[in-house]
Amino acid sequence: MCEEDGEFSVSRLIKSVAVIGTGTMGAGIAAASAAAGCRVLMLDITEEAVNGALGQINEADLHLVSTGTIENDLPKIYDYDWVCEAIVEDVEIKRSLFLKLEDHRREKSVISSNTSGIPLSQLSEGMPERFCEDFAITHFFNPVKVMKLFELVPGKETAPDVIEAFSRFGSETLQKGVVHAKDTVNFIGNRIGCFFILSGFHLAKKYLNDGIRQETIDAVLSTPVGLPPTGLYGLVDLIGLDVMELVGRNLAVNLPKEDKGHMFTSFPSVEQSMHDRGQLGRKSGGGFARQIKLADGTREKEVFDLLNEEWRTADPSDEVGLSVGLGEILFQDSLLGQLAWEIFGGTLLYAADLVPEIADDIVNVDNAIKWGFNWVHGPFEMLDYLGPERVIGRLESENVPLPRMLLALKESGGRYFYDHSTSSYLGADGRYAPIQ
Ligand code: NAI
Repeated sequence: MCEEDGEFSVSRLIKSVAVIGTGTMGAGIAAASAAAGCRVLMLDITEEAVNGALGQINEADLHLVSTGTIENDLPKIYDYDWVCEAIVEDVEIKRSLFLKLEDHRREKSVISSNTSGIPLSQLSEGMPERFCEDFAITHFFNPVKVMKLFELVPGKETAPDVIEAFSRFGSETLQKGVVHAKDTVNFIGNRIGCFFILSGFHLAKKYLNDGIRQETIDAVLSTPVGLPPTGLYGLVDLIGLDVMELVGRNLAVNLPKEDKGHMFTSFPSVEQSMHDRGQLGRKSGGGFARQIKLADGTREKEVFDLLNEEWRTADPSDEVGLSVGLGEILFQDSLLGQLAWEIFGGTLLYAADLVPEIADDIVNVDNAIKWGFNWVHGPFEMLDYLGPERVIGRLESENVPLPRMLLALKESGGRYFYDHSTSSYLGADGRYAPIQ
């Protein structure tokens, strides 16, 4: 909870929040902060926008909330410890807002952006020194109330006590799971989670052409591999194809040149047509699936068949019969086994290549994926569950180069990424370190 008078050793402390931009994310951050007992200021372009967002705040917390417009009420941010920017995802619009905020933000307050993927370096380039020291990315997941993940990204010039203040606020006040990420494209959760989706779109085509239905693909890429029941297409229906397209475009520009993700940043043609005609997912009344109301008032699920591009009744029988032990499907000698290995296994191997590039350690990667995408096990925990020797053996027999962390494990002589007897994990340097 927010304590205005408590005794704390940290030099900066967040007890009040000014949220600028009160759309989906800003409203969620404001509501979570007020629910934790913090004073909150909500500003947006228009009063209507702010008033609409007020509906998200618990009635019991409304006394903590003040509202206003960016044009008239910016000086009020002086009274707040944390200025949280959550406006439209546009680097120039965000930067010009930051400059205006700097005129009113008080000394030792902290400032952040909730951007989903703009590199911090682009947001802070050429900004005043004080801004660069006090600035970080605080990346919440949608819906803020429900999602545990809170990614924290420092810039090169961010002061350590700023990160400490955000970290403490995230974990203690908001009760989120704080993950320390680096300033790389899409940070941790979305870098790996969106690779799963975008590579899945492309790699699934072969199996669709072989007669495997979308329902089956979703069923394979869910409980059998420790993912939520939404699988692949169901997950995108939740997120929205429009959001995924933006993510793909951002990746195309900002992924390192040699990154495997480049193969998948554009949509396959059918998914692109769906996007272009506004068939985006649940938000537009249908994407890969939809619910229709029948004449007798009952509802029926339909699936958009990706082969003939027509709606058809969903076949629930395609979603059953996969009750093997967790992960075993990856090693099955069958089309479904191959599908699971290529798409889910491919995502595990991708993640295993990204430490220390996107995170200092495997623990932050595992936490980001569990808390942001609701996987039962993070990628490294899952590799441990499957047995790294088994995975390495398969890759070597197929002449596939080992991803960085699997190679580090092999060279270390260790058998697992985590040593639970000593509560330690394998570091990128090949040595085990205690889990903090
Ligand atoms: P939104 O569209 O729901 O809200 C954006 C708000 O910004 C609106 O209230 C709008 O009035 C305001 N706005 C628009 N143009 C503006 C301008 N020129 N100056 C000041 N305010 C302006 O967007 P959402 O989804 O809340 O996203 C906000 C930020 O959070 C973006 O950077 C987005 O990438 C990021 N984000 C979004 C997630 C999501 O799932 N929606 C998840 C994580 C991050």
